[in-house]
Amino acid sequence: MNSTTPDNAGSPPRFYLETYGCQMNIADSQLIGGQLRRAGYVSVERPEQADVILLNTCAIREHAEERVLGRLSDLARLKERQPALRLGLVGCMAQNNRTSLLGKAPYLDLVAGPDAYRQLPRMLAEAAFDPVVDVRLSRDETYADLEPDWESGVRAYLTIMRGCDRFCAFCVVPYVRGRERSVPLAALLAQLRTLAQRGVKEVVLLGQTVNAYRDEAVDFAALLHAAAGVEGLERIRFTSPHPCDMSPAVIEAMAGEPKVQPYLHLPVQAGSDRILEKMARGYSVEEYLALVARLRAAIPDLALSTDLIVGFCEETEEDFAATMELMRAVRFDSAFTFKYSRRPHTRAAERPDSVPEPEKARRLAAVIELQEQISLQRNQALVGQVCQVLVEGPARRGEGMLMGKTPQFKTAVFSAGGEIAAGATVAVRIESATSHSLLGHAV
Ligand code: SAH
Ligand code: SF4
Ligand code: F3S
Repeated sequence: MNSTTPDNAGSPPRFYLETYGCQMNIADSQLIGGQLRRAGYVSVERPEQADVILLNTCAIREHAEERVLGRLSDLARLKERQPALRLGLVGCMAQNNRTSLLGKAPYLDLVAGPDAYRQLPRMLAEAAFDPVVDVRLSRDETYADLEPDWESGVRAYLTIMRGCDRFCAFCVVPYVRGRERSVPLAALLAQLRTLAQRGVKEVVLLGQTVNAYRDEAVDFAALLHAAAGVEGLERIRFTSPHPCDMSPAVIEAMAGEPKVQPYLHLPVQAGSDRILEKMARGYSVEEYLALVARLRAAIPDLALSTDLIVGFCEETEEDFAATMELMRAVRFDSAFTFKYSRRPHTRAAERPDSVPEPEKARRLAAVIELQEQISLQRNQALVGQVCQVLVEGPARRGEGMLMGKTPQFKTAVFSAGGEIAAGATVAVRIESATSHSLLGHAV
């Protein structure tokens, strides 16, 4: 018996991979899939069918980690029936809990951090005998030469930089993903061309501070221009930019390159200068609002979304009111909202997590309610307009309806007279709207 084929000798070893966390983690899972496939593994849909189970995990909030520990102990039961099954935990939570994980989850065979994916086939072979751990972070690993197993579809996600050097006080990312490093431009352009040849129409460039991209003289603005030159790609997006790296050149590229879509996810986190300062975000409310004004002047049809944290250390009622005020001032199209969760290693972990849980919950409910109203109003203002929708396929609900995204990354569900293939762009007249989607008819 070969060490990579525990109990189905002769047929290729089977892996099952489950992904938690952000888009970058989803992209990393595609990278892992490519690595394992090249090493002779085949992927399966259900954990019961697998010789190897991997969970690619997130450490951003405590709740994310708790979910994974629960899931792990469920999956560990499969080992009773199949002792040769190997169970691995990879990604940010592996990095975050490097030393304690084997204690918390003794049934783990493999623990690999985000910079160890190149080693996975070797690690899995070794894990047949003893648990293996690799949580070394790298200063230069970008996996630029490894082709991910892209998902089929009209949209693809492409990691252009890894890590983060910003060290916001609440955030674990710099500790679990390591230092900032960018994929060389030449490798990115080759990947973009491959994607275009496979029929991908829309690419989302990814990085924790995506607009800090730099390959020698090539900055993020230059990358946007270069990507716009790739034939066949119709839409270019990116996430998440940091407000401090939103240079005039990037705004100009967004305004000047028709392929770069009028949508920006621009995390603000809080609306009070006192809290922004404690968070070490690097901008004031005034500076953020001025940036929004510059963006909207340059790109009049721009949609904006954001991330907000409520209940950060020592956030007062007044601080919180300032966040609500900022939301009313900017009128984001949508927002991802979170209760502050204390994370190990971070600077804020040394401060009192002083807002009581019920108060965090109340503040969260209030920001969600306010955002729902604003999102609804903004979407309803589009009723009667015609939007260019990139068709993704049948809508989940509604017989014969199709769905896709507008340039502003809003979900549009619509009916059409005849057949329309995924990948086509259609003009859709918006007839009604909810806070989360637009409903219409192809014209
Ligand atoms: N790189 C992105 C954010 C990545 S994490 C940026 O800088 O904007 C995604 C979001 O999770 C953050 O924007 C923040 O709103 C939230 N988040 C991060 N750490 C958190 C914590 N400790 N508690 C609650 N929310 C957190
Ligand atoms: Fe975290 Fe701040 Fe880096 Fe974003 S910029 S990943 S919030 S440290
Ligand atoms: Fe989570 Fe890691 Fe992404 S901590 S948000 S999966 S970078």
